[in-house]
Amino acid sequence: MEPDRRTFLKGTLAGAAPLFVPRSARGANDRPAFGVIGTGNRARWLNRTFQKLGAQCVALADCYEPHLEAARRESPPDAKTYENYKDLLAHPGLDFVVIGTPDHWHCPNLLESLAAGKDVYLEKPLSQSLEESRRMIEAVRDSKQIVQVGMQRRSMPFIMKARKLIEDGALGRISMVKPMWNWNFDLPLDNSPLPGKVNWELFQGPAPKRPFEPMRVRWWRGFYDYSGGNMTDQGTHLMDVVQWMTNSGPPRSAVAQGAQIHMPGGDVPNVFCAVFEYPDFVATWTLNYRSAFHHDWSIEFQGEKASLVMDRFGYRMYKDPGPSATPWTQKGDMEVIGEEPDRDSAEAHQQNFLDCIRSRRQPNCTVEIAAAAVAGPHMANISLREGRKVTL
Ligand SMILES: NC(=O)c1ccc[n+]([C@@H]2O[C@H](COP(=O)([O-])OP(=O)(O)OC[C@H]3O[C@@H](n4cnc5c(N)ncnc54)[C@H](O)[C@@H]3O)[C@@H](O)[C@H]2O)c1
Repeated sequence: MEPDRRTFLKGTLAGAAPLFVPRSARGANDRPAFGVIGTGNRARWLNRTFQKLGAQCVALADCYEPHLEAARRESPPDAKTYENYKDLLAHPGLDFVVIGTPDHWHCPNLLESLAAGKDVYLEKPLSQSLEESRRMIEAVRDSKQIVQVGMQRRSMPFIMKARKLIEDGALGRISMVKPMWNWNFDLPLDNSPLPGKVNWELFQGPAPKRPFEPMRVRWWRGFYDYSGGNMTDQGTHLMDVVQWMTNSGPPRSAVAQGAQIHMPGGDVPNVFCAVFEYPDFVATWTLNYRSAFHHDWSIEFQGEKASLVMDRFGYRMYKDPGPSATPWTQKGDMEVIGEEPDRDSAEAHQQNFLDCIRSRRQPNCTVEIAAAAVAGPHMANISLREGRKVTL
């Protein structure tokens, strides 16, 4: 990467200085009106959640009719449906939009929503490339809009508590961090005819043009045309927590190895290990979609005084026996010296966004944070695809 770009990326990704844009003219709109772009699995949950939290769904857009229809059934009867999101952005009176499209649409959807003067709740991963991240940060900084990226761990109280512990030095010096995701995911890509109507041109948008294949709509995560695969899909969530807990920006360098095991049809690996170099520690990021051992997500922070493991149930902290000249004589059983369960934090991130569109304060997951979080996974994908070590 050329020096100018590297300097800029380092500045924009690592700086993460939140931009505070006061806007007093808003008035006390207690029931902000929103539209949803991309009404698939995640955005339908977001649609229901934002309605539950008091916002009004007034418009929906999707280029796949069955998804649009399913979202319509879960929205007020007068919510308007559109095939093209550009028409949704012209819908009068929208306070914010929820973007739940596949990753290749995130950058254009965000930029156009900002240009239309909308606040945005944008699903993760932020972008499909480091270059897109840079453009998205610039666009948000040039706007007056509030943008929350859908990395909900940023609003989970138990993770905030873990951060305080780590900041206060409970683990001592952290040498290695090990995020992982394990599912035994039976995922033959289903290429049988797709029920209902899809506008394939609109689905592809800025992606390379391909002949229509139903599996590309059903499991776009399996293709680099529409996503960074599992590396960025789950990696952005976990690498963000790694960087948040350790007060780090993106890694200095990344290397990765991966394989496709029993996943014919797609082109992203479903088993991989990435290794990241940070100034003070090393992090691995492993994903195995062919084994449920250590089921679901977890992150181990290994420190000299203690180690902390967090997962979807909460966190546990284990005392370290301490340095020894004969470590093989030490007992391996580690005493639990702190723990905190996750307590129903599923909707906190959406509530934080609603609070921020009222207060005009920066939300918990800004585009700067999201760009830094996905930088390592983007670098690991480049490493994987080009067979080389990638530096920022
Ligand atoms: N935060 C989380 O925990 C979480 C969980 C799941 C998914 N996600 C994210 O949400 C996004 C959507 O994932 P999903 O699982 O819901 O996928 P999905 O396939 O169920 O939904 C995507 C929808 O976008 C639609 N779409 C495609 N192009 C469009 C366009 N030009 N205009 C309007 N709609 C368009 C598709 O037709 C589809 O209905 C992804 O970015 C994913 O990473 C986040």
